[in-house]
Amino acid sequence: MPENHVVTISRFLIEQERKIAETTTGTFTSLLSNIALAAKVISYQVNRAGLAEILGETEQENFHGERIQKLDLFADDVMQKALDHTGLITCMASEENEFFLPVPENFPSGDYVVIYDPLDGSSNIDVNVSIGTIFSIHSKISDSDRGELKDCLQAGKHQVAAGYVLYGSSTMLVYTTGAGVHGFTLDPSIGEFVLSHKNMRFPDPSRRVYSINEAHYPGWETGQQLLVDYLKNEGDFSSRYIGSLVADFHRTLLQGGIFMYPAGQGAPEGKLRLLYECAPIAMLAEQAGGRASTGARDVLEIIPHSLHQRIPLYVGNREFVDLAEDFLAEEDSAT
Ligand code: AHG
Ligand code: MN
Ligand code: MN
Repeated sequence: MPENHVVTISRFLIEQERKIAETTTGTFTSLLSNIALAAKVISYQVNRAGLAEILGETEQENFHGERIQKLDLFADDVMQKALDHTGLITCMASEENEFFLPVPENFPSGDYVVIYDPLDGSSNIDVNVSIGTIFSIHSKISDSDRGELKDCLQAGKHQVAAGYVLYGSSTMLVYTTGAGVHGFTLDPSIGEFVLSHKNMRFPDPSRRVYSINEAHYPGWETGQQLLVDYLKNEGDFSSRYIGSLVADFHRTLLQGGIFMYPAGQGAPEGKLRLLYECAPIAMLAEQAGGRASTGARDVLEIIPHSLHQRIPLYVGNREFVDLAEDFLAEEDSAT
């Protein structure tokens, strides 16, 4: 087949179907195709947000106490409507809904559980900086055909698939089903996500970039302060911080380095949520040859106790995440 042939997500999954059990039935291919459809709809609105009266905040706060952006709600609604009728899922959960969402009674039920952050990096919407959508896919473990909370509270290592959409200079969908990480770029001329980054791997850290919100330095544990002092003075690193997890992770995956969101920043356990931010990012990182840790243990090993549980996150090249753990452990043992 000539190398310049167009490989869409569906085609790539069918070509992969023969390799991985998960996609043999075709239902997974259909699930990912529906997520890709949602991504196209959200991308269209994101790219015309300034024109579509969809910028800015609603009057509402979510139960995290955060002001809800109009685009957050729009994206959440698009994801639900893209999946709820398909007969592929038993339930969903999202950042914008306090409780998990059983598949509606009037729709058929399926075996998958989709947990997602409909719009990641909301604070960047109104300043036209890259934002994203993050999704995590599990197989149900309950007997209920409308889902139970335990279907959502599974450790990240049991994820069937994970991925994100990045609404940036182009719209990309990056996912893994446990057989490597693959990136697709939306070609607006044909309205399809086309394979553009096959088998994405953290590069050998040529460009050593650390990414953290340094405004919180005074509130960090000593080990965290010593780590960033080292990266600044000894580590020959550059610093980049966008403030959208998806964009900061995507750059780290392409260029190498480490992204950090430590404990004590925003909340005692940090700001990022395990189920729909850290666990999917961790699966992608491990599949791309890197690591994701809380600073003390692998993110994928954590058994969640609640839907919106927060954890600290250190993700990137294996050697840099290991280094972060060493600095944090040293300080722990010294206190
Ligand atoms: P969300 O918009 O889904 O709430 O996520 C925002 C998160 C994440 O995208 C980013 O890494 C982090 O917030 C940035 O937090 P700070 O503004 O505290 O740096
Ligand atoms: Mn987020
Ligand atoms: Mn969000």
